[in-house]
Amino acid sequence: MKHPTPDADTVRAAVALAVRAPSVHNSQPWRWHVDGRTAELRADLRRRLPHTDPDGRDLLVSCGCALHHFAVATAAMGWAARIERLPDAGEPGLLARIALVPHEPRDRDIALAAAIPRRRSDRRRFAGRPLLARDADRLRRAAADHGAVLRVVDDAPRRSALTGAAAAAAGLHHADPGYEVELAAWSGRGYAPDGVPARNAVLATVGRHELRVREFAGARLADTAGPDGAALTVLATTGDDRLSRLRAGEAVGAVLLAATRLNLASCVYTEPLELTSTRALVRDCVLGGGLEPQVVVRVGYPPEGAAPLPATPRRPLGEVLWPLPHAYGASLPIPVQLRGYRPS
Ligand SMILES: Cc1cc2nc3c(=O)[nH]c(=O)nc-3n(C[C@H](O)[C@H](O)[C@H](O)COP(=O)(O)O)c2cc1C
Repeated sequence: MKHPTPDADTVRAAVALAVRAPSVHNSQPWRWHVDGRTAELRADLRRRLPHTDPDGRDLLVSCGCALHHFAVATAAMGWAARIERLPDAGEPGLLARIALVPHEPRDRDIALAAAIPRRRSDRRRFAGRPLLARDADRLRRAAADHGAVLRVVDDAPRRSALTGAAAAAAGLHHADPGYEVELAAWSGRGYAPDGVPARNAVLATVGRHELRVREFAGARLADTAGPDGAALTVLATTGDDRLSRLRAGEAVGAVLLAATRLNLASCVYTEPLELTSTRALVRDCVLGGGLEPQVVVRVGYPPEGAAPLPATPRRPLGEVLWPLPHAYGASLPIPVQLRGYRPS
């Protein structure tokens, strides 16, 4: 029996939503291959950030976010994603093989997909209002649905351990010329299709007990006034292998979309987790040992009257979406550009 397959426009639209996912430094380190009802997600290792992300955690988490958003997008369009993660031990760059099967979209599927283009990384101070318990529960459940734990860091000693680890990481990074060069290359941008634009980066002045956010080059976004009311959360997993990191990324995608649906502002922050010493501080002194921290997420209510943030750019679909290497002959149902692509 012939299986129904989504049409080319549906797959293109789903990938277009998937790539709205957050990624470290907006590096968009992914490649998508599609063939009728099968899609494959590969890591684009040319976009790895060796000084910021020496062990490739942020890259895998970024790809996990995109994988989550792809499944959300296809569900809203009437296709459930059956995901096989890390399906081929001989090809480590192949992160997921996804079969699309017919599915009746629910209101929740559509509402989640509608949140994708509305989400922004907001690095400004958030309103002083503490996170409501029911909103925190909603975010915890979003993480748990993907096998992760979201801890709200709300007591003074652990909050201070986290801000201390962040400040130490910023200091160590500052002393690493390779890191500074990499950061300058990936931020302070105008209209490039990747990297962190100057208009989305805050030139922040950090209070003594506030979390120090990553300093990007050329920051131009005005910060909001008053103390930062952001709740600090750490998303963690029980393991720290490649599968755990990819699944953590899916959980991050879920938490951020749940936050967006609740009209919460949010921003992923990973600087203290990129260095072995400060990551150990977060694991032991913030999480109390036993869990592997994958990302910090600042989350809270947007300050009254704060200007809406512009969307960050993305690479054109033609640069990230290809037919499966074996799939098509002369006639491509998806008008991808094959600029520079050599199937391996
Ligand atoms: C794994 C990961 C790590 C990130 N680390 C940071 C960070 O340390 N500081 C920060 O301000 N933003 C961080 N971000 C947010 C990205 O910079 C942001 O997603 C990207 O610039 C695209 O912008 P957008 O999220 O508004 O679409 C991170 C995102 C991911 C997925």
